[in-house]
Amino acid sequence: MTAVDASPPLVADGASEPLLELRGIRAGYDGIDVIHGIDLEVHPGRVVALLGPNGAGKSTTLKVLSGMLAPSAGDVLVAGRRVNGARPDDLARRGLCLIPEGRGIFPNLTVRENLWMMTHRGRTKADVEEQAAARFPQLTRFLDQTAGTLSGGQQQMLAMARGLATDPALLVLDELSMGLAPIIVDQLYETVSQVAAEGTSILLVEQFARIVMDVADDAAVMVHGHIVETGRPRDLEASLSQAYLGG
Ligand SMILES: Nc1ncnc2c1ncn2[C@@H]1O[C@H](COP(=O)(O)OP(=O)(O)O)[C@@H](O)[C@H]1O
Ligand SMILES: [Mg+2]
Repeated sequence: MTAVDASPPLVADGASEPLLELRGIRAGYDGIDVIHGIDLEVHPGRVVALLGPNGAGKSTTLKVLSGMLAPSAGDVLVAGRRVNGARPDDLARRGLCLIPEGRGIFPNLTVRENLWMMTHRGRTKADVEEQAAARFPQLTRFLDQTAGTLSGGQQQMLAMARGLATDPALLVLDELSMGLAPIIVDQLYETVSQVAAEGTSILLVEQFARIVMDVADDAAVMVHGHIVETGRPRDLEASLSQAYLGG
């Protein structure tokens, strides 16, 4: 692989200002950077995929942009405003919703209670339940069951229902497909496509690329803490296969 430190920004869609922009982000743990100058843009209405093998730094990038981890260098901009140091709940109020790896639901609470926690943005409990039921009819059968007893796919549906209850401008999904059967993954990505078609911008992270080829407008390949290529998902297959071969 060549030029590992070349990380061009994603191509802008028309003249619109990016909803989210990362500029030269470096970040890591215990003083050691694991991402080394990440540039990334998500424009309104776009679906952007951040792809790369395990350990590449994808989740670390998401921690920075969601305010959970302070970068050691670089800027995070939301709708053109620098938000470095903003807390996760500040960013949530600005319309950023992260569904983390492992889904971030409360396993000991019921499905209904998990949904009810999302009423803090002025919505009623009934409203949140109705919206979840419309999006994921399956969930209505389990409203009084504890979330931890659901299947992995149902838990991911609950996580998405919770996230969508905030009416995010930007939905960020970290490895939606992890541990799930292909048929369930296809079903979840169908919902992602619907949400995108309704105008929500989406940043999705996946290790395996096949899933996102039909969903994403733009993609970036990340390897060893660098973005090594950006473009349309179909045009990145060569650099992706190299990335997974350890190139
Ligand atoms: N909490 C943490 N403490 C120390 N190192 C971490 C932590 N989380 C991730 N790392 C390391 O940072 C690197 C990037 O990890 P991560 O961002 O989780 O990658 P990805 O999401 O692409 O699999 C890896 O080497 C990983 O071991
Ligand atoms: Mg990860």
